[in-house]
Amino acid sequence: MQLGTGASVVRGAARNARVRPLRTPACAECLRAATLDVRIPPSRALFHAGRPRPSAWAAAVSVAGNIVSNAVTRATKGDMPSVDPLRIVAKEMKFLTGNIRKLLGSGHPSLDRAAKYYTQAEGKHVRPLIVLLMSRATSLCPKAPQRQQATFQASAAIDTSISPPSILSDFNPSAIPESEPAYTDVDILPSQRRLAEITELIHTASLLHDDVIDHSVSRRGSPSANLEFGNKMAVLAGDFLLGRASVALARLRHAEVVELLATVIANLVEGEFMQLKNTARDEANPQWSEETLTYYLQKTYLKTASLISKSCRASALLGGSDAQTVDAAYLYGKNLGLAFQLVDDMLDYTRSEKDLGKPAGADLELGLATAPLLFAWKTMPELGSLVGRKFGNDGDVARARDLVMQSNGIEQTRALAANYAEKAIEAISSFPDSEAKDGLIEMAVKTLKRQN
Ligand code: FPP
Ligand code: MG
Repeated sequence: MQLGTGASVVRGAARNARVRPLRTPACAECLRAATLDVRIPPSRALFHAGRPRPSAWAAAVSVAGNIVSNAVTRATKGDMPSVDPLRIVAKEMKFLTGNIRKLLGSGHPSLDRAAKYYTQAEGKHVRPLIVLLMSRATSLCPKAPQRQQATFQASAAIDTSISPPSILSDFNPSAIPESEPAYTDVDILPSQRRLAEITELIHTASLLHDDVIDHSVSRRGSPSANLEFGNKMAVLAGDFLLGRASVALARLRHAEVVELLATVIANLVEGEFMQLKNTARDEANPQWSEETLTYYLQKTYLKTASLISKSCRASALLGGSDAQTVDAAYLYGKNLGLAFQLVDDMLDYTRSEKDLGKPAGADLELGLATAPLLFAWKTMPELGSLVGRKFGNDGDVARARDLVMQSNGIEQTRALAANYAEKAIEAISSFPDSEAKDGLIEMAVKTLKRQN
């Protein structure tokens, strides 16, 4: 990368990134809160405890509301040329969909078709792309000698079963024939490539289930699987994907990575439950409170950032990285995941169905109060009664939408997303300079610029 290009300017910003200066003087509590971890200690999770607690996240939100222009916002304005993250791992990405389909074969033709259905349309493949970039970027980072054995085992036999095949009884007509050499690269290990495929499998499984829950009619510009096959088969296809993802995970022969990715599946379900059910207080008597925002951000971590953060961590573990690198990879993924979902929730208000490839404005129709509305609600108490009845009366959706558009909820959401994107870049600032690191930085910038 040449000095003076936009990417290197952003990279320079990443090296120097600190908590941003504020328009108004920052209170110490806000700054402390902005650095806190979103993971929920079980005893303190809002959905377990009825008792309100001081909200670290709401303080982080007020920090975000005040951030001034910075490297990320400059880059999103388009005055910086950028690297193309996809090009950096293009060879691996080229084989991704084919490899995933090889993991999904079933002797039953209907299941085979349903399981592979969402692999037909070109998805964005954001998660595997991040895992591959992280694998390449961390290949240059310091190693932990005690992890070398696990690293070697994880890459040795990713297509070899642990139990005898006769016991497994899991015929896969699409499996890679023994003689077919898999594509390998020097700095991305076979186990890391397989991890990228596993993240896409888990994500796709969650979409198959999500589309049933959301009564979706379209996905990636085509009819959704629930419409094409019916709810029962769509749910079962999702379960099949999870089963095959679990098999592939076990064959990495790396217990810590298995624990991380298995926890992601539990987190996804818990996040979806949190989304289905508001806090007890909001169900009974909706009033804006910091607890509402905290709950939303916890839900967002579980639903979206958990998969990205834990797969980034797993990628560093599979590469044999030292503890500092493993933690940095996790923090990058966590902050990027939060930024990604905030932008998603913003686009639901600002983009058309044509742009998104799925119905726009779906969140309010589904009764969901996401970041733009939660920010608006703070200054527009009228939104409380609409939240309480999940926008269920005639005219509620249009009224809520109007109020959000009159408020600064969209700008606040964008600012919070930018704050997380900055933190993602800061997390990897100690990584050695490389094209892959530039790609990770660019992913954070692109997350804010994306239109669908
Ligand atoms: C998309 O959300 C959905 C998710 C990010 C996760 C959904 C998780 C589940 C349904 C739990 C079950 C999980 C597994 C692994 C089976 P969205 O509705 O906001 O996005 P969309 O507009 O793309 O549908
Ligand atoms: Mg959905």
